[in-house]
Amino acid sequence: MKTYIIIGGSKGIGKALTNVLLQNHRVINISRSTPDISHENLKHHACDVLKEDLPNIEAADGLIYCPGSINLKPISRLSLDDFKDDFEINVLGAVKCIQNYLAILKNGKEPSILLFSTVASKLGMPFHASIATAKSGVEGLVKSLGAELAPNIRINAIAPTVTDTNLASKLLRNDKMKENITDRHPLKKYLNPQEVAEMADFLLSKKAASISGQIFEMDCGIVTFKL
Ligand SMILES: NC(=O)c1ccc[n+]([C@@H]2O[C@H](COP(=O)([O-])OP(=O)(O)OC[C@H]3O[C@@H](n4cnc5c(N)ncnc54)[C@H](OP(=O)(O)O)[C@@H]3O)[C@@H](O)[C@H]2O)c1
Repeated sequence: MKTYIIIGGSKGIGKALTNVLLQNHRVINISRSTPDISHENLKHHACDVLKEDLPNIEAADGLIYCPGSINLKPISRLSLDDFKDDFEINVLGAVKCIQNYLAILKNGKEPSILLFSTVASKLGMPFHASIATAKSGVEGLVKSLGAELAPNIRINAIAPTVTDTNLASKLLRNDKMKENITDRHPLKKYLNPQEVAEMADFLLSKKAASISGQIFEMDCGIVTFKL
C-alpha cells in the first residue's frame, strides 16, 4: 500500500483519481473544500496552495497536482494578469508542491509525480493563448524534471481534451454544445473523469516503471488525426 498526496482531490479528475487510488492505497488530499468521500485511508488538509503554507506531511510515494484553469478569450481581451493567473495556478502551484514534498518523495517507494497539461499545448486553437502558454510550461517542467530526478523519481503528465468536470461546465452547458464537442473529436466522444483517473493510476503505478518525462495526449483523436 502506497501513500499519495493529491492536490485537488475534492472535485473533477482529482476526485475520480482519489476514489481509484483508495481501492489499494492511502490518499492525503489537499484542496480548499473538503471532498465528499469518506474512507479510512483518506486524510484531508484544507489549504489554498497559492496562498497558504503547505501542510507538513511525513511520508509519501507519489504526488499528483490537479488544479488548473480554462480561461478562453481573444488575445485582445486577455490581460497580463490573466496570463499571470494561469501561470500561477498551473505552473507555480505545481512547482511549489514539488519543491515542498521533494525530500519525502525521494524517500518514498518507487516515487512518481503526475501533472496535467491540455491538448491546447499541441493543437493551436483560437482563444487558448493564456492556457496554452501556461500548460506548455507544465510540459517543459515534466521534461526537465524527468531528467533531473531520474532514476529516483518518475514524472509524467496527462494532456486531456475536454473532460466532463466543473472546470469544463461552460463548454458543456447544453446538449447542443455537447454534440458539437463530440462531433469535433475523431473518436466521437469527449472524456469523463473516470477514464482520465484510470490513466493516471496506471502512470503512477509500477506498471509504468519505464515511463518518465512523457506527456500523454488523451485527445479522443483531436490532436493526432485529421479525418
Ligand atoms: N476538465 C477539462 O476539460 C480539462 C481539459 C484539459 C486539461 N484539464 C486539466 O486537468 C486538470 C484537472 O482538471 P479538472 O477539470 O478536474 O479541474 P477541477 O474540476 O477544477 O478540479 C480542480 C481541483 O483542484 C483543486 N484546487 C483548485 N485550486 C486550488 C487551490 N488554489 N488550492 C488547492 N486546491 C485547488 C480544486 O479543489 P477546491 O476547489 O476544493 O480547492 C479541485 O479539487 C487541470 O489541471 C486542468 O487544467 C482539464
